[in-house]
Amino acid sequence: MSASEPLPDLAWEPSSWQQCAAAQVPEWPDPAALDAAINELRALPPLVFAGEARSLQQSLARVSQGEGFLLHAGDCAESFAEFSADNIRDKLKVILQMSVALTYSTGVPTLKIGRIAGQFAKPRSSPVERRGDVELPSFRGDMVNDFAFTRTSRVPDPHRMVRGYHQAAATLNLLRAFTKGGFADLNQVHQWNLEFVRTSRQGRRYDDISAEIDRALRFMSACGIDLGAEVQLHQVDFYTSHEALLLWYEEALTRRDSLTNDWYDCSAHLLWIGERTRQPDGAHVEFLAGVQNPIAVKLGPDATPDEAVALCRRLDPGHTPGRLTFVSRMGAKRVRESLPPLLRAVHRAGHPVVWACDPMHGNTFQHENGYKTRDFDAVIAELDGFFTACRAANVWPGGVHVELTGDDVTECLGGAEEVLPEHLDQRYETACDPRLNARQSLELAFRLGELVRQ
Ligand code: PEP
Ligand code: CO
Repeated sequence: MSASEPLPDLAWEPSSWQQCAAAQVPEWPDPAALDAAINELRALPPLVFAGEARSLQQSLARVSQGEGFLLHAGDCAESFAEFSADNIRDKLKVILQMSVALTYSTGVPTLKIGRIAGQFAKPRSSPVERRGDVELPSFRGDMVNDFAFTRTSRVPDPHRMVRGYHQAAATLNLLRAFTKGGFADLNQVHQWNLEFVRTSRQGRRYDDISAEIDRALRFMSACGIDLGAEVQLHQVDFYTSHEALLLWYEEALTRRDSLTNDWYDCSAHLLWIGERTRQPDGAHVEFLAGVQNPIAVKLGPDATPDEAVALCRRLDPGHTPGRLTFVSRMGAKRVRESLPPLLRAVHRAGHPVVWACDPMHGNTFQHENGYKTRDFDAVIAELDGFFTACRAANVWPGGVHVELTGDDVTECLGGAEEVLPEHLDQRYETACDPRLNARQSLELAFRLGELVRQ
């Protein structure tokens, strides 16, 4: 081993995080119930296999080199109540549609990661929620407590982690069936996109690009390529991820890989650390430093270059391509000034990170009608700022991280079919942050295509 190579942290254990300060942890009222839930989780099979996490890391390594584009998308928070085959199918469908549009415009493979099959725990800006005169503990996601605004519902219940595990297992099972069983067939996905272009106002703007894709498919067919017989054209790789917030859950699902003897968090392929838990000496960073999965960290407008470099040192000591993704979530107003110093510092430190843009979380605001929302134009403006900053720094703008649903909800404002403030109460269904609906998501993918081609 050369002098510059970091030594492996031999003292690391899946429980090492318990020695560090942890932000955003729920107060479990019943320690015996917590132990019981953890022991139950420990005995359950892993949800993903370490080899899959390694494949994802290889794909992310290609993204870090400009040979791929990351589409990381799904619910802000999955919910126990909204769990159905249709819901999973519709979310996957919109992600596949976005992916085809993106692959065509970027000219590189789109790497698809869902915020799915485990995205049940939420950090909160305030530990309490007030409605009128009543103040209760905040909802922290279905894996912790219940959304209903009553005192008993809001008590953290560790058995919810076990329920979350089982829902994640069933979700993953269906995702594997859909993505390998024919649902993801390129021709079919393209037909859905054509329908979007034909039947919606925002779609018409993308007539040209979808016609080009159509011609490309017909060209391949005319050359004698049997599109139906090409495995690559009707199966896709789809990876799972969630915020690694509830470290008891993550620890219980962390297993040693029998092939390499390394630790992997087998609750998902990729885990990320949120803006509120990314303290370089905190518990969440300590935990993810020791597992070999690819990981991501959100960076908000107050992240400093020193913090970004400290995170690189802790989480990517080996300078390994694909190991670390930074997700910039600055807000449309601040991205142009806040992101460039981070891009420069990380580049100087020599870490081959993937840079992706979350154009959602820095653009959330409370409308005067009371709804928490985001404006489609601000989302696009942040993406524009992100692309501009990356290009100026000679960094590949490697991907996008968005909150969306396959349903026709009215949670974010704008888009060509203009969701207006007075529409918000029609279908505001999110358990946490406002999501793009299916049409806004497709419009975003086509707009991204335009930004890439600029
Ligand atoms: C999220 O991704 O839902 C989230 C809470 O993001 P952030 O940590 O960037 O605020
Ligand atoms: Co969110």
